[in-house]
Amino acid sequence: MAGNGKHENEGIWDSAAPGWAKWEAALMGAAAEATEQMLDAANVEMGMKVLDLACGAGSQTIQAAKRVGPTGRVVANDIASKMLTFATSNAADAGLTNVETLHGPAEDLSESGLCVDAATCRLGLMLFQSPQDALSAVRNVLVENGRFAVLVVGSPQDNPLFSRTMIIALKHAGKTPPPPGSPGLFALSDPARLESLFQAAGYIDTRVEEVAVRLSIASVDDAITMMQEAFGAYRAVLGDLDDKARDLAWAEIRDCIEQFSDQGNVSSNMTFLLASGSNAPT
Ligand SMILES: C[S@@+](CC[C@H](N)C(=O)[O-])C[C@H]1O[C@@H](n2cnc3c(N)ncnc32)[C@H](O)[C@@H]1O
Repeated sequence: MAGNGKHENEGIWDSAAPGWAKWEAALMGAAAEATEQMLDAANVEMGMKVLDLACGAGSQTIQAAKRVGPTGRVVANDIASKMLTFATSNAADAGLTNVETLHGPAEDLSESGLCVDAATCRLGLMLFQSPQDALSAVRNVLVENGRFAVLVVGSPQDNPLFSRTMIIALKHAGKTPPPPGSPGLFALSDPARLESLFQAAGYIDTRVEEVAVRLSIASVDDAITMMQEAFGAYRAVLGDLDDKARDLAWAEIRDCIEQFSDQGNVSSNMTFLLASGSNAPT
């Protein structure tokens, strides 16, 4: 916890919330089908109670809430209260009344009093301080045989738009990529390591598969603004530079994005890893 009673990373994610909420549809619209695959891997069905970790502005929470229907519930968790505010209003705008929120780090659900039939986490686990603790915490609130399914970003080679632009940002900032094991976009991109984390937390019937996603953004301007406003990772890397040096970095990133554009539209293949496991009966 930081001195103000907040978890140490909450402020970073709170400040990212308006940008994430603004660009979520443009970015995550492409992930709707992968999200359905995640809900399938967690065996989410009508009437279930589901925990959705690191919900952000809640688009996958909404997909889960539609699937469980009015007799089910989705508990949307996030470390950032501002993300939860967006998730709540987006669920209400979608006409849903079966979404509730749980504020706090996914690594600590011990005081939540939850017991859920299934759990999901889209594009969050690789950013957590301790994915291992989060996997254990979820297992403790899952019913026996309940499944936890996550989507994380796959290898840098399979996600060229983000890996190449991040290399440019790191070069300008004079920084190196985060060492293996520390939080980051590609922290869990090794399928064997991801599966071993599930197994070390006591999950059985574990599975990891690749899911292809085609990202499409209306223009190079949109792509740059989205990275600047919604992606805390780029802001964090370039944060120590003065304005001139930062402008130079964004100009080179822009040149790189141009290589992914065709008649203005920016598109790139992405690969996610879909990992899941069951809570073993005791
Ligand atoms: C890349 S966003 C993904 C949001 C959403 N799941 C989606 O796919 O649109 C990552 C989210 O993880 C949340 N987050 C980061 N660390 C967390 C933690 N330790 N516990 C819970 N949420 C966390 C952030 O606040 C943010 O909303």
